[in-house]
Amino acid sequence: MRCAFILLMAALCARADEICLTSEEDPYLLFGTKTAYIFSNRGIPNAKAHEVPGCQPVAFWLLSRHGSHNPEANETAELQQLVDLKNNIVTNYKNGNFRNTNHRICTADFNLLERWNWKQNSSTAGDLTSDGYVTTQQLAQAWKQRFPGLLTPNTYNYLFKFVEEPRSSNSFRAFSESLFGGQNEGFDAPKENDEKLLRPLKYCDAWKNQVDENNKTLEQKNIFESKQEYKEMISNVSLRLGFNYDLQKNTVLSIYQMCRYNKAWDVTQISPWCAAFTREDLKRLEYAEDLETYYKYGYGSTVSEKIGCSIIKDMVDFFKNHAERELRQQPKAMIQLTDYPMILMALTKLGSRQDPAPITGDNYHTNTAQARKWSSSNMVPFNANIAAVLYKCTTNGNFQIKEQYQVLFLENEKPMNIEGCWVGLCDWSAVKSKFDPDKCDLQFCNAAARSTGFVSLILTVILFCINRN
Ligand SMILES: *[C@@H]1O[C@H](CO)[C@@H](O)[C@H](O)[C@H]1NC(C)=O
Ligand SMILES: *[C@@H]1O[C@H](CO)[C@@H](O)[C@H](O)[C@H]1NC(C)=O
Ligand SMILES: *[C@@H]1O[C@H](CO)[C@@H](O)[C@H](O)[C@H]1NC(C)=O
Ligand SMILES: *[C@@H]1O[C@H](CO)[C@@H](O)[C@H](O)[C@H]1NC(C)=O
Repeated sequence: MRCAFILLMAALCARADEICLTSEEDPYLLFGTKTAYIFSNRGIPNAKAHEVPGCQPVAFWLLSRHGSHNPEANETAELQQLVDLKNNIVTNYKNGNFRNTNHRICTADFNLLERWNWKQNSSTAGDLTSDGYVTTQQLAQAWKQRFPGLLTPNTYNYLFKFVEEPRSSNSFRAFSESLFGGQNEGFDAPKENDEKLLRPLKYCDAWKNQVDENNKTLEQKNIFESKQEYKEMISNVSLRLGFNYDLQKNTVLSIYQMCRYNKAWDVTQISPWCAAFTREDLKRLEYAEDLETYYKYGYGSTVSEKIGCSIIKDMVDFFKNHAERELRQQPKAMIQLTDYPMILMALTKLGSRQDPAPITGDNYHTNTAQARKWSSSNMVPFNANIAAVLYKCTTNGNFQIKEQYQVLFLENEKPMNIEGCWVGLCDWSAVKSKFDPDKCDLQFCNAAARSTGFVSLILTVILFCINRN
């Protein structure tokens, strides 16, 4: 009896040392480019009508990222290896294989993980999940309630642009079901398939050469990942899962990927894979991804702004039709469905969330990095969006309104901070001069290829002349 009591006490004491990460009261849910919309935008979508005193909305432009999706086809092999990893963790746990029992996964978390299994339907790789579909519908509904005079059920008031692939066309379906009440006519709404506009990176050789294939692009991220503060994260995660050695970085990244996919697929469920990480670990993983997006699609490269310009030009041209030509036979709402790199590049062109100094691999602990404005979690969660609304105003009612036409910019439904504007509201003339569409084109994308073409043309001419002589 006494012996049993001692054993029970011992068991309780051992429990007390364990850390249960899945049952934290206030878990860290900012997972970079795979964050659920509500985790970075609490209280949103909200469906209150958007009022600007003395003004009527006349045109609506939206750039919207798709909702949460299944893993891409090229990710499944790596994620599937988590099945073996799970089995190893189970063995570690059952063997009491811990360097330090204070740092092991707790029993409740372990039990969840043990029950986890891989289920992936390869025919739906990369496609929207049902949560992604529903969240897209809710957002469409919120926009409709906010601008009821503009987003009417008349399909001919709209122009949709998306790309030919399941994720994008299902996002279009979610939007139109929500806007047009689920009637099939919604699918007849004017639409264009415009991959060149929505995914210019695919066609931009200059970006490929100068950014994507340039090993300087990931330099800061690599520096950060070679630092003690990142390696310590890997060690602590390994320790927690009962490994006597440090896991490979890619294995830890697969765990992270599964954790954040799980939390985006069902925001109410606990993901056993998230039990591998503390808040501090998650912040480091988030920072590493911010370093990547900053230099690939943000202020860290001059190319970002040039590409972002092309989609902003689209917005300015659209509003010009309304503000200057007053053409009646045209859409009032332009809705474009895209991916996160385009949203980041558009935000860069708009000048949103620019830090006073670049974020780098060796300033993680400084205030610059900790209080950074550049944050993938907040800029491009699933369903991220940039909206611009053109208003026609009477200039006498409101002292803030100086011009007849005003443009309101919203980033994930909140007024965007743009220099020279007032809580997201800008004079139309300021928008035109700031984002002059005549200064925006993607000619530079293939300029490199063309100049080598030009050189070889000259060479041909020279050789031709030499041969003639
Ligand atoms: C997987 O494919 C996606 C798009 O289909 C691409 O963005 C990503 O870079 C690819 N990942 C790898 C590891 O190749
Ligand atoms: C995979 O998804 C397709 C389309 O949603 C469905 O028809 C099929 O039954 C699914 N297969 C499995 C094994 O779940
Ligand atoms: C970057 O690329 C160049 C040329 O491709 C190569 O010589 C150099 O070693 C690379 N640097 C790093 C740090 O990988
Ligand atoms: C790793 O664990 C050690 C020991 O508990 C702790 O001092 C350190 O802060 C942890 N590192 C991270 C990145 O959480």
